[in-house]
Amino acid sequence: MNIVTIVGARPQFIKSLPVSNELRKSNREILVHTGQHYDRNMSDIFFEEMGIPKPDYNLGVGSGGQGEQTARMLSKIEAVLLDEKPDAVLIYGDTNSTLAGALAAAKLHIPVAHVEAGLRSFDKKMPEEINRIVADHVSDLLFCPTKTAVDNLKNEGITKGVELVGDVMYDAALHFGKLAEEKSRVLEELDLAPKGYLLATIHRSANTDNIDNLKALLEAFAESDRVIVFPVHPRTRKVLANTGLDSIIKGSKVRLVDPVGYIDFLKLENNAVKILTDSGGVQKEAFFAAVPCITLRDTTEWVETVESGWNILVHVDKDLLLKQIAEFNPVGEPAKLFGDGKASFYIAQRLTSA
Ligand code: UD1
Ligand code: UDP
Repeated sequence: MNIVTIVGARPQFIKSLPVSNELRKSNREILVHTGQHYDRNMSDIFFEEMGIPKPDYNLGVGSGGQGEQTARMLSKIEAVLLDEKPDAVLIYGDTNSTLAGALAAAKLHIPVAHVEAGLRSFDKKMPEEINRIVADHVSDLLFCPTKTAVDNLKNEGITKGVELVGDVMYDAALHFGKLAEEKSRVLEELDLAPKGYLLATIHRSANTDNIDNLKALLEAFAESDRVIVFPVHPRTRKVLANTGLDSIIKGSKVRLVDPVGYIDFLKLENNAVKILTDSGGVQKEAFFAAVPCITLRDTTEWVETVESGWNILVHVDKDLLLKQIAEFNPVGEPAKLFGDGKASFYIAQRLTSA
């Protein structure tokens, strides 16, 4: 089979690798990078460190408004699909690259397979929620990471082509987690002791476009007496620079660093006391590593992590956040809720037998 895979944003590079490895055993995969993420440490570093195949196409769309960016991707992906005439198009997650890939393929009547189908936050103010809903409704194969995702699709009338396969991020974390422990020197480089710091990430529009929200989060970080390592997404870096909000953390134990590669990030996650994040993937990786996670949002699509007691939602309530930074302490071990580490294998099998 000839399969076009569409990626464009940091988490999609990570998700696509285990599936690419399986697919390439007996199929031709044409990898298309939309260029949504383009800084070295948001893109190339993942290809180099993880051994992700070099993209066959880089569409170089770059940044822009929601409509502008998606439109550029849509027309460029359409041109690739018309040239390549693949048997299927594979899309991941919920970014604008996912949406553009789904729309371009569906309108050319090319079967669409969606990895991480069925996720819902039920918050349509998130651009990702719109992307998920549209992608799922035009997909032919819907690879769900969790039973909740299967149920969400059923509630929207989608049952055909739905497969519960587990989570490809779990596959990736199992493989690269071992490598991270052996190879990463990030703790030494940042002069951190294992279990001597908290790890934070922030990039969602609800926390970066709303300055009051970002301010409240940073104030809580700064007022806590813990070392907080904060690899800053470029979107957030720009807001901090433009608003001067980075002055809030001056003199505190918050350490802003540039985004790091996946191997270093896994090491930082595995050795953190707690994780503070608004990321989807990071919530899951905290759960895989049995590190308590405080999710800096009102909603999550990874509800199992909350139900199991390993993740709590705290949005812009500074006092509550400070309290949870000090006190949140789940006990026991998180259950295995994201498959058996072979989601990528099941996806490749099902996709190529379709
Ligand atoms: C996107 C996804 C989000 C995902 C995240 C992963 C959408 C709508 N959002 O959010 O679901 O969680 O990726 O990280 O698709 N920028 C750079 N360099 C880069 C990339 C971005 O400077 O390499 C800056 C630009 O100013 C850009 C801003 O970050 O405008 C936002 O980038 P964009 O890709 O639009 O959205 P993300 O916030 O990264
Ligand atoms: N990640 C990384 N370096 C960083 C921050 C995150 O490699 O500095 C990885 C992280 O391990 C996870 C993924 O990026 O696999 C999450 O991506 P992000 O938070 O950007 O997007 P989301 O998952 O929210 O869509």
